[in-house]
Amino acid sequence: MTTPTTHHAPDWRRAYDLHSVKWNHHDRDVIPMWVADMDLPVAPVIAEAIARRVTDHRLSYPVRGRTPLAEAVLARLASRHGLAGLDHEHALFMSCVPGLHATARALTTPGEAIVVQTPLYGPFLDAITTARATRQDNPLVRGADHQYEIDFDHLEATITPATRVLMFCNPHNPSGRVWRRAELEKVAEFVLRHRLWLVSDELHNELVHDGPYVPIASISPEIAQRTITLTGPAKTFNTAGLSIGIMVSHNRHLLDRVRAVTHGLVQEHPNVAAEAAWLAAITTPEADTWHRDVLALLRANRDRLTAWISDHAPQTRYAPSQGTYLAWLDVRSYPWSEHPADYLKERAKVGLSDGSSFAPAGLGHVRLNFATYPDVLEEALARLAPHFKG
Ligand SMILES: Cc1ncc(COP(=O)(O)O)c(C=O)c1O
Repeated sequence: MTTPTTHHAPDWRRAYDLHSVKWNHHDRDVIPMWVADMDLPVAPVIAEAIARRVTDHRLSYPVRGRTPLAEAVLARLASRHGLAGLDHEHALFMSCVPGLHATARALTTPGEAIVVQTPLYGPFLDAITTARATRQDNPLVRGADHQYEIDFDHLEATITPATRVLMFCNPHNPSGRVWRRAELEKVAEFVLRHRLWLVSDELHNELVHDGPYVPIASISPEIAQRTITLTGPAKTFNTAGLSIGIMVSHNRHLLDRVRAVTHGLVQEHPNVAAEAAWLAAITTPEADTWHRDVLALLRANRDRLTAWISDHAPQTRYAPSQGTYLAWLDVRSYPWSEHPADYLKERAKVGLSDGSSFAPAGLGHVRLNFATYPDVLEEALARLAPHFKG
């Protein structure tokens, strides 16, 4: 089996016949580069693990507690990322979006507030609204090389006595920022000083190009006690449809508050096919090799996009993604910037995510998912070029 980097798109238009929302959302003549799925096939070892689970007739209710998957996930968080000291009692299996909703509801009462750094992945915003909490936006600001930075002065001024939670995203969707240790230390200091809770979505944590990625809960034992971290295999191993993830916290009482919200609504054991897939993803050398190859492909695509922007779209404000496979383009200098994704879908036949769904700070931006085959990326860039000339 060849690794994904050696593939050209297998006639990418045929993908319209598949089940994927990414490929079925637009008309057939549009190249979809919106929702965060990769166009690449999953690692064969993952597909085989799922198939084996079925052929071995192991689809019954699974054991709970200290399972091989729980142990493997927690061991990987400790050994690869320095997030140590967690055992299965510090973990709940749940994919990330339900985790955002559950934590927003568990940690606030209606009218209390949650502060976020915007622009931000839309489901955070939805989770806050659905919890009937007040959202407090602290817009990110462009620093050196156009990279986003957290405006800590504005953050101080934004929160109120009603603020209970800071929701965080690292690596950050949509910008691809990987927050540096010094920045995380300031966030942690802020959270501790104001006695907030910290919910950190770290789903893209193994899609890092310019690292290191540092889990914020690893900064100090004090911040670990106030943090819930969400992660999973969905982005790294391209298994979003398996709906599996994990919520971890060193503070078991905090997890109990979440459990009180999810009890009876979210299964306490993971789906068994997803369990087999995630275990294969993090315990086999084949999946490791796949992961390395995919990271190389993504980095090459990112670099190609960066060069293209500098050559063909100089009016675009953009900073290369340090992680994720998402690129965040500020297109406010173009005449079509009011509804940029609609315009580019109609005129360039490329389907991007409109910045408006990432809070007001996202207006006039588009998010481009570059997790595709190089030849598909080239075709998309050729289609976009006339509109970005300025
Ligand atoms: C930051 C972030 N969190 C959560 C999700 C979705 O997570 P899940 O599929 O585990 O619910 C995504 C998907 O794009 C994401 O980018």
